[in-house]
Amino acid sequence: MEFEDRITTANALNEELELEVSLRPKRFSEYIGQKNVTDNLKVYIEAARMRKEPLDHVLFYGPPGLGKTTLAGIIANELHVDLRITSGPAIERAGDLAAILTNLSDHDVLFIDEIHRLNRTVEEVLYAAMEDYALDIIIGKGPSARSIRLDLAKFTLIGATTRAGSLSAPLRDRFGVISKFEMYRPEELRQILRRSAEILRVGIDEESLTEIARRSRGTPRVANRLLKRVRDFSQVMGTGVVDLEITNKTLLALGIDKEGLESLDREILSIIIQRFRGGPVGIDTIAAAIGEERVTIEDVYEPYLIQAGFLHRTQKGRMVSELAYHHLGLSTPQEGQMSFPSKEN
Ligand code: ADE
Repeated sequence: MEFEDRITTANALNEELELEVSLRPKRFSEYIGQKNVTDNLKVYIEAARMRKEPLDHVLFYGPPGLGKTTLAGIIANELHVDLRITSGPAIERAGDLAAILTNLSDHDVLFIDEIHRLNRTVEEVLYAAMEDYALDIIIGKGPSARSIRLDLAKFTLIGATTRAGSLSAPLRDRFGVISKFEMYRPEELRQILRRSAEILRVGIDEESLTEIARRSRGTPRVANRLLKRVRDFSQVMGTGVVDLEITNKTLLALGIDKEGLESLDREILSIIIQRFRGGPVGIDTIAAAIGEERVTIEDVYEPYLIQAGFLHRTQKGRMVSELAYHHLGLSTPQEGQMSFPSKEN
């Protein structure tokens, strides 16, 4: 899919990893929002430092792009330790994990993104590592095989996942701190954007900051990406200072509507309305109708559609709200004007 089509995707795109690093806050004092998460963590960090112990293992969960990796970096900075970043799919074998674990020093932070995608064998190695700071290695094969236990540094694991429900119970239970990331309020995104604009030296007016914040689906990664794009448009087509006209022009060019929805969001809503009479309809049926993977819809698109009130998750499946009909310019069935087929499926 074209980059422009996916402007609101919260997954990091390669071209912006560098940018994101420079925009990433390094200390709690620079980190905006997620107060429920940070207030408690500050206490746990302080307590661990006073006791000269490692911080307990931490699990972050919530939609992508909300600053989980950033916060892991801040925790390592505040603890004055090194941070090692990896991800569930990158650790293929137990040996890969062993190599990482044996290279950690006391109190270091190991960050595993997408931790729900660790394979079973690797996950089992992690249990003893988390619980006893030990690695059980099997030497030899068959009857002469024996297990030796290797001591590890007393590290902190920070796991991140978009789906806490996909974590096995034994893994989840080994985290002492479990924190949920929420989508950001427009005012918080505005502060993040103002800070980013300063770092990037982008001249931008208040109305534009407000507009981008409102249309960034509650996600700093999306907001920062849009800031970059309006900067491009203003450089080429405007005065170099971002104003509301340039902002609206850019968002229109990117297919992002007034509520921050992109084409796939609108497609999800309109398929539920037009093919399934507004729902309830199962997620697999929606995925098949749209030609996207179920997990992408669940992890990337749905959270914002639900949070913004366009979609509901019910026992029987997904249902659109009245708001969705109005947003797409369609009349609701109650309004009595059957502007869409009613007998399909
Ligand atoms: N950039 C990304 N997430 C951020 C946050 N929560 N605060 C400040 N800058 C950010």
